[in-house]
Amino acid sequence: MELTHPLNRTEFGSPDNLGNLMSEHQAMDLLRDWVKNEKLLFHMQQVGHLLKKFAESKALEQEERHMWHLSGLLHDADWDQWPDEHCKKIIEELEARNQDPRMIKAIASHGPRYFGVDPVSELDKMLYAFDELSGFVHAYSLMRPQGYDGMEIKGVKKRLKDKSFAAQVSRDDISDASQRAGIPVEDLIQFVIDNQLRA
Ligand SMILES: [Fe+2]
Ligand SMILES: [Fe+2]
Repeated sequence: MELTHPLNRTEFGSPDNLGNLMSEHQAMDLLRDWVKNEKLLFHMQQVGHLLKKFAESKALEQEERHMWHLSGLLHDADWDQWPDEHCKKIIEELEARNQDPRMIKAIASHGPRYFGVDPVSELDKMLYAFDELSGFVHAYSLMRPQGYDGMEIKGVKKRLKDKSFAAQVSRDDISDASQRAGIPVEDLIQFVIDNQLRA
């Protein structure tokens, strides 16, 4: 299959920068600078929030939780202004800012079919797993009169089978990500229902 946005790289960031992480405030400044599309901004905040909550559920250290949060917050930062250079542009920006290579690698592997970089670490895999699913569940919440209230796994799965609903969301990516993460898609859906940041 042809990669749409090949990165043609295997190394991201420098090991010298392990533990170097910008603050949430700095990340939001970058996003306000780069992202004019409010929906895209909210998508990144939702994915960041899910990753932070997942890291908490795994009782990861504070620094790791922050890294997980930032990875979600920044993963599509260049999509609004430079879609053709997604996610090369944000990777280069984070490298120029000497950011933690684990975060940069996670961003580089959030779409293996597009960027040609496999998710390896747990952070890589969970960013990939929550990316499409978060947007999908959000779209579903918007069409339900009660939003997230009373939302069930089976309702989400029914919409997943309906290819005309949120057609831009790749079902293949959702199941591939679930397999790579080793977490059943039902469990991922439940986690999103329980932890998604609401508008
Ligand atoms: Fe993306
Ligand atoms: Fe995304």
